[in-house]
Amino acid sequence: MIFSLHSPNHHLIKHLENLGLCSSEDDVADCEPVGSQKKNINLLVNVGSDRKFLVKQERYIEHNGIPQELFNEWLFHQLLQQFPVLGNIAEIGSSLLHFDEQQSILVRNYLTEYFELENFYQQNDIYPPEIATAIGASLGVLHRATFNQREYRDFMATAPQGQFRYQFYNPVQGIESFSSDIFGSVPTDALKFYVLYQRYESLEAAIAELASLWQPCCLTHNDLKLENILVHSRWEQLDNCLIRIIDWKTCSWGDPAFDLGTVLASYLRIWLESLVVDPSIKLEESLELAATPIEILHPSIAALVQAYLDAFPSILEYRCDFIQRVVQYAGLVLIQQLQATIQNRKYFDNSGIATLQVAKSLLTRPQESIMTVFGISESEIIKPFVKLTKHPQTEKEQNLVRIYYSKTRLRGC
Ligand SMILES: Nc1ncnc2c1ncn2[C@@H]1O[C@H](COP(=O)(O)OP(=O)(O)O)[C@@H](O)[C@H]1O
Ligand SMILES: [Mg+2]
Repeated sequence: MIFSLHSPNHHLIKHLENLGLCSSEDDVADCEPVGSQKKNINLLVNVGSDRKFLVKQERYIEHNGIPQELFNEWLFHQLLQQFPVLGNIAEIGSSLLHFDEQQSILVRNYLTEYFELENFYQQNDIYPPEIATAIGASLGVLHRATFNQREYRDFMATAPQGQFRYQFYNPVQGIESFSSDIFGSVPTDALKFYVLYQRYESLEAAIAELASLWQPCCLTHNDLKLENILVHSRWEQLDNCLIRIIDWKTCSWGDPAFDLGTVLASYLRIWLESLVVDPSIKLEESLELAATPIEILHPSIAALVQAYLDAFPSILEYRCDFIQRVVQYAGLVLIQQLQATIQNRKYFDNSGIATLQVAKSLLTRPQESIMTVFGISESEIIKPFVKLTKHPQTEKEQNLVRIYYSKTRLRGC
């Protein structure tokens, strides 16, 4: 371990000097912790008056050939270096500078002009569709540029020195059936979650079916929570480079509907976490009484999916059930997040029960849920793109499409 959360740290500064990222004359002002620090240590390091780095170290480095957690972010970075045609994606990503595999230390340029989308929504309680549009467009570009591209898939699967470093991972896992051990490991309230989950047979069947329909066909981020999306502080004046996607440690070859479903789940959580829940109030009533009604989020949710399809219309030709799968993945992610909260924070309350019920509807009745989730019907969502999908462009042409400009542009310029 070379870091300490107390600043400034001698070993860390030496490390940055060895990498040529700062010199002995530089004044390393301070190192401050950022993010949750749960699994990894994240430090913002200020060098001189104008340079900032995000230095990240895995807390528990696994040895014996087991892949290290941060390795995939490095692999993703190398993929972008190896294939310059993927330049569009580099502009969405998080400016990685260095990775030390042995010590599992990663250095990124700290993006001073950006802030976390999670905080932005919490602090401002506004949901401008422009931001959701930028997310949908960025994700569509990532999936479209890598879709069915064998060379990218092989690159991700084969690490240097011929070691096997990367595995396909189907994110569709149900909740394991529980044994008596669970009584000691989760609070009594949280047992309700497991009891309800097991009572809903249709839910288990829907998750099993979703697992069988999982189609890995492009590069996916796999952890698109709002805290992994950064927004430019001048998003109102800019019409490009609005967002950056960070934290690529779980990226892999996966199903594009899972990424879009994960972002969708984040928007639905804003609504679900604002419900007024009480055992005396029916779920339908709680949903109506939400402090942030779903109608407030509809413009963003619709903009997200429309911008995605605008960037990647041909997905509808390959996957005619795409929108329904996205809805199902959103339900699955909501359930996985409930389970993670129970395991990490030992917490489950009535709002969790409401979330589980909504997630169940998304998984078992995706078609009927579309109107609730997007505020528009499936045919309205896909109508503008159906004609375009009749003549899909070749993959080569797709890769050359640029939707971003290399320099930040002011809106309208
Ligand atoms: N390059 C960066 N520029 C600005 N902020 C960043 C950058 N990288 C990380 N952060 C901030 O640090 C937090 C944690 O980083 P992340 O890579 O997501 O680590 P973790 O593995 O802990 O989730 C992010 O949510 C974001 O607020
Ligand atoms: Mg993160």
